[in-house]
Amino acid sequence: MYVGTVSVFTWNKPSQDTFQTVTMKLIPRRATGASWSCLTLAFLLVLCCCHIVSILGQKSESALTVVENTEEDDGVVGDEEEEVAVDEDGGDLEVVQPTEEWQTLKPGQAVPAGSHVRLNLQTGQREVRLGEEKLKYWTQEHREKEEIQSLFNPDELKQALKKMKEDLNPVTKDTDQQDSVASRFRPIEELKRDLAQLDLQVETDVQIMRRLLDQFNSSNSTTEQKLSILQELEYLVHQVDNAQTLCSMGGLQLVLDGLNSSDFRLQENSAFVLGSAVSSNPAVQVKVVESGALQTLLTILATTQPLRVKKKVLFAVASLLRNFPYAQRHFLSHGGLQVLSELFRADGGGVLRTRIVTMLYDMISEKELISQAGLDPMLDASHEERVRQYARVSLQGELLEKGWCSLVPQLLESTEHDYREKALRALLAMAPVCSDQYRSDSSLLGSLHSLKHQYQEMIQSEMILGEESGYFVEIVDLIDALQVKMK
Ligand SMILES: *[C@@H]1O[C@H](CO)[C@@H](O)[C@H](O)[C@H]1NC(C)=O
Ligand SMILES: *[C@@H]1O[C@H](CO)[C@@H](O)[C@H](O)[C@H]1NC(C)=O
Ligand SMILES: *[C@@H]1O[C@H](CO)[C@@H](O)[C@H](O)[C@H]1NC(C)=O
Repeated sequence: MYVGTVSVFTWNKPSQDTFQTVTMKLIPRRATGASWSCLTLAFLLVLCCCHIVSILGQKSESALTVVENTEEDDGVVGDEEEEVAVDEDGGDLEVVQPTEEWQTLKPGQAVPAGSHVRLNLQTGQREVRLGEEKLKYWTQEHREKEEIQSLFNPDELKQALKKMKEDLNPVTKDTDQQDSVASRFRPIEELKRDLAQLDLQVETDVQIMRRLLDQFNSSNSTTEQKLSILQELEYLVHQVDNAQTLCSMGGLQLVLDGLNSSDFRLQENSAFVLGSAVSSNPAVQVKVVESGALQTLLTILATTQPLRVKKKVLFAVASLLRNFPYAQRHFLSHGGLQVLSELFRADGGGVLRTRIVTMLYDMISEKELISQAGLDPMLDASHEERVRQYARVSLQGELLEKGWCSLVPQLLESTEHDYREKALRALLAMAPVCSDQYRSDSSLLGSLHSLKHQYQEMIQSEMILGEESGYFVEIVDLIDALQVKMK
């Protein structure tokens, strides 16, 4: 039975990176009531904190402290700044809402499931930000429901934590500091034993993936089961080593088979797993391109499919191509731009259009960045190779040839500010090859003129109202820059 997943950090294999993450899942052997999930979360938190503390023992001896409220109104007891008070009446365990930026977590703060938590081994602080999938422009609608469910009841959690605290911290303050630290935070083996006594079983990511893949591969599993397996895999493969493990276990083939499924929900979720697995993961990018998946993805885009499948497939393609000139060359030589231009033309709503344009913009600016970096004499030897690889991606010529100089301006007709902004950025990036076409494009000239007028008026009226108009100023700047290029 699924209870909940919390991403925490492991401290026992700090060899590869400064940051190491592991996802632990607790699976009760028998469910005994509603308080389970809170208790589970509480345990994870305690486990997590105890370990952080055990390696940083001297530094912060009371990483997670729940203090009984006294008569004092502020509820804070003790002089250590790390102590966190949870007061009795209505006081909540503070749940931090992660953002795109890493925020340092104070001891005692909790995070919603799915957040990305890391232990900064240099400062010893825990830091949190949105899980990777939240950061992605492509997947805005993902997990909204799940998030609501996973916000746990602070009261129940508080009670559970108090109980843990009593159990974990029987030592009084006046004992010798070192003894105190050692006995407050018990070794992992002991904690594991306690978890076992509570009928909880800690499964590693590798074990979880093996189990999921076996279930997925079983002829017995239903489509519903497969869908939920894909969702769990999607969560797991955000970790770089998990995505690589998925490949080495033969999971890539299963996901690729899912892409070819006749059930569009399986296609959608398989594409999502694939896209997440290749995101910022060069080893997996290579494996996926070698598997021939790019052609399958392009085929899906080229044939009629529900919009939601196309969105996720487009996400997978964009992730596969990012920072990977070899895949970009394959994409171009397999008619990728042609497929995208048909998709662009067919997409009235603009959702796909703007994603396509963003993807093109990313590819152009990525190449541009590499060539600019070439001016830096301090670069390593691999840079030359990278420049050489990007030189073989004939993106600009293809954009011109496939008609993108006149397609991208159509996105300006959208009513969304965000879509227009993306279009303007792409138009600027394409200006070196497209400027002749821009100049003779009377509808582009007209759009720029009227948009500039419109945004200037909006800036004016917002200034009168004293509102923030920075975003519109930015858009006008983009229009100005584009008009300069077209002179
Ligand atoms: C499929 O289910 C049947 C009974 O429902 C079971 O006997 C069989 O072992 C299962 N096969 C697999 C591959 O799990
Ligand atoms: C799936 O099952 C087949 C045989 O039924 C097996 O050959 C294959 O290795 C399995 N794949 C994975 C990833 O477990
Ligand atoms: C998916 O189907 C296409 C043709 O429809 C085929 O070329 C490709 O090999 C298939 N991929 C997998 C993984 O079965």
